[in-house]
Order: sequence, then structure tokens, then C-alpha cells
Amino acid sequence: MGVTAQMNKQAIIRKIAGVVREKLEGEGSGHDWWHIYRVWKVACQIGKEEGADMFVVELTALLHDIADWKLHDGDDTVGPKVVRNVLFEYGVSEDIISHVCEVIVAMSFKGANVKSKVKTLEGKVVQDADRLDAIGAIGIARTFTYGGHKGRTIYDPKQKPVMHRTKEEYIKDEGSTINHFYQKLLLLKNRMNTQTAKQIAKSRHSLWKNI
Ligand code: NI
Repeated sequence: MGVTAQMNKQAIIRKIAGVVREKLEGEGSGHDWWHIYRVWKVACQIGKEEGADMFVVELTALLHDIADWKLHDGDDTVGPKVVRNVLFEYGVSEDIISHVCEVIVAMSFKGANVKSKVKTLEGKVVQDADRLDAIGAIGIARTFTYGGHKGRTIYDPKQKPVMHRTKEEYIKDEGSTINHFYQKLLLLKNRMNTQTAKQIAKSRHSLWKNI
């Protein structure tokens, strides 16, 4: 790839980071700009280590929560439409647009017993980076923030955690925030795709065992 193309890619990433920051700065459910920023930076770290296409990794990380289906009543067609428009506007090629959109639809957690459909290395890298932000101290803070946003109780001993088998069951779940740890967060350490993320997950996860 020529120097100019490389410069263009950097410029596109910078501009898209600006768009995302403007849209998600101050977002109150735990999917705010600084979540995106952490996922972006960790995705860069993992992606370089794993030899992924960094343009796809960076674009996907930046845009992965721009229209999250969890915040649109489970509608997972909103995200790709918004993402497609943004990338098209900045002149990104069709094959990269489809790759990024496919990953964004496939990467989110959809229930303890629902298998992830992320296929490419780039998708695996960004999925790992996003999941790492749900583990450890930041993960705890984000989970209670999301619970508050959804009006959930912190803990109710009468409710037992449910291991969801479908995305529909997972979306309908109105259990406590503590249940969410058992239904998702504590499972993530063993669901990392890449070796690099497995290492990072191990140290973040160990914080939980010490509480
Ligand atoms: Ni995210």
C-alpha cells in the first residue's frame, strides 16, 4: 500500500473518531465515548499482536456501539445502517464496509448459551477488546451503570440467574444486576478468541476473585 493510501486511512480514522466522540460523549448507559476509546486502544494492542488488518479493526472498534441494538429494543438492523452511512460518507470501500457491518452485527453477547458468529480475525480482535471492557474494575462499574439505566434491582435472592439459549430470551431478561454477572460477565474470561486477550482477561478477572 502506498504512503498516500496509508495517510488517507489515518485521516479517515481520525475523522470517524471525531464523529463517534461527538455522538457518544456523555452517553449514560456505559456505552459512552470513553468505553469506545478503551475498546479502540485495546483492539489496536491485540490486533497488532495478532497480525490483523488494522484499518478494519480500528473502524469496527470505533463504530461498534454507535447504534447498539440493546438500546434500540433489540433491533440489530439500526447499527449497520448507521455504520454503512458513516463509512460511505468517508469514501471507505464496499468490501471494508460489509466486513465492518458483519462484525458489528455478530460480535455482541446474545445469551450464555448462544454461540458467537464472529468469523474473521478482525472481528475476533474487536469482540475480545469489547468484552475485556466488561471484565475487572471497569466492568463492575459499567454493569451497575447499565443496571441503573435500565431501572434494574441490584440484587434479589428470589431470582436465580438464567443461562439464556436465544437472543430473544436474553433481551427479555429483567433480572437483577448481580444476575448479569453470572449470565454474562463471569463467562467472558473463557470466551476470549485470541491468545493476547486471554492473557489480559486473566489478570482483569483475578480482581473479581479477590472481592
Ligand atoms: Ni461496546
